[in-house]
Amino acid sequence: MDIQDERRRLLDAEGTDEYETVTGVRSEQDIYLDKVQNGKLYLAVFVSVLGPLSFGFVLGYSSPAIPDLITTNDDRVRLNDDQASWFGSIVTLGAAVGGLLGGWLVERIGRKLSLMFCSLPFVFGFAMITAAQNLWMLYVGRALTGLASGVTSLVVPVYISEIAHERVRGTMGSCVQLMVVTGICGAYVAGTYLGWRWLALCCSLPPTLLIVGMCFMPETPRYLLSQGKRREAEEALRFLRGPDAPVQWECARIEEACDHQGAGFKVSDLLEPCVYKPLAIGVLLMFFQQATGINAIMFYAENIFEDAHFDNRALGTVIVGLTQVFFTGIAALIMDRAGRKVLLCISGVAMTISAAVFGVFFHLTTGQHNNTSVRAMASGVEGSLGAGPEVDLAWLALASMGIFIAGFALGWGPIPWLVMSEIFPSNVKGFASAVCVLTNWGNAFIITKCFQDLLALLTNAGTFWLFSSMCAINVVFTIAFVPETKGKTLEQIQDNFRGTPAQ
Ligand code: BGC
Repeated sequence: MDIQDERRRLLDAEGTDEYETVTGVRSEQDIYLDKVQNGKLYLAVFVSVLGPLSFGFVLGYSSPAIPDLITTNDDRVRLNDDQASWFGSIVTLGAAVGGLLGGWLVERIGRKLSLMFCSLPFVFGFAMITAAQNLWMLYVGRALTGLASGVTSLVVPVYISEIAHERVRGTMGSCVQLMVVTGICGAYVAGTYLGWRWLALCCSLPPTLLIVGMCFMPETPRYLLSQGKRREAEEALRFLRGPDAPVQWECARIEEACDHQGAGFKVSDLLEPCVYKPLAIGVLLMFFQQATGINAIMFYAENIFEDAHFDNRALGTVIVGLTQVFFTGIAALIMDRAGRKVLLCISGVAMTISAAVFGVFFHLTTGQHNNTSVRAMASGVEGSLGAGPEVDLAWLALASMGIFIAGFALGWGPIPWLVMSEIFPSNVKGFASAVCVLTNWGNAFIITKCFQDLLALLTNAGTFWLFSSMCAINVVFTIAFVPETKGKTLEQIQDNFRGTPAQ
């Protein structure tokens, strides 16, 4: 009996005799998925995204904590401007290292244990910040939480893509970014009520729940099968797919794909089209995500609100956070219907236009007064637009920033992470995802650190026009190279890269 017949028998064995329907022949996949119940899958996704929630808290923490730490009476932990900038950016460096560590860990100890492991540096890092007696404790605490964020940003997308099935994988995978932005927003909101020490304590809650919750969740069936643990893989699938699904069918399908892929990563794998093509796409997606300038624009959001005479800066940042949560939520809901490519294109076009308009705003306002607070930040001097003709244009800055952030949330925020988790064959997943995460966080560090030099070199308008051109290139890149992964199994996606017809 060949593999196809055997797989069909597994479906039939569970009483399936419904290949023919009014609409025509149904695929094995459809028959199988109709028997699946998603309740426990949603539970496992919910627990795992406590990781991205924690990482959102890490990203959002510095915004309310830095003003507190600059003005604190305790001179052991008081930050000057330079120290504050390191306190903010050291997280991205820690995360870049965390990406490498994560790539190694997912292969060595598996997806589930890696997820549990990353709670530890989160909790220790926040504990160190809560108890900080000097600047080094603050820096080490930030670096540890950054390291944990890097591991999380690799492991959680991989975990979710390997436990979800193709009908819901887009929505489930987008929950990663949804939780990151919810965490950022949560830190902004909590920061309006809590001082920096209490805020750090509050941020350690999600990773604590993560480690406890993951004790009750399964390892991914793909990882178990790659380790030859067929019985455990079936148990994991039975947990995730409910009692009515003939899980042996899915096991057989995954095993078949594992046979194609060989065990472990070898350097010679890089010569295979099914490895180098997705690797190039993953790395470029991560590079382009950061090249949009999102982190620089979020960093400047408070100043833009100030220039628009929006007195309550903290409320301004909460509004930015809520905009991100709202639009990322919409992206998650429509991801499996609209598809990745369409959303990336809509997002890229919205960002191209809004960043260009942002540049126009600066072009029109710079030169009339040289002390806008955005400019003043670059030179380290406080200031704001003040009363003048530019005030009438403040709405333009607010509107373009709003559209930029909403556009990012709809596509370029969640999709690079989602696609990264979908396109690599199992045997190179750890290595390839680590290269992607390193690219993302390394670029986040470079762009936020170099932003002020860019402003000096290209002027404000020039810098935003540069971001706008990068967003335009993103759209061309998406149309030309990004594969549509909507509705496909992970195995079908890899078959497409290999150039063999999907089963
Ligand atoms: C990006 C981060 C960004 C975050 C917030 C993530 O997808 O990788 O660099 O800070 O979204 O929007």
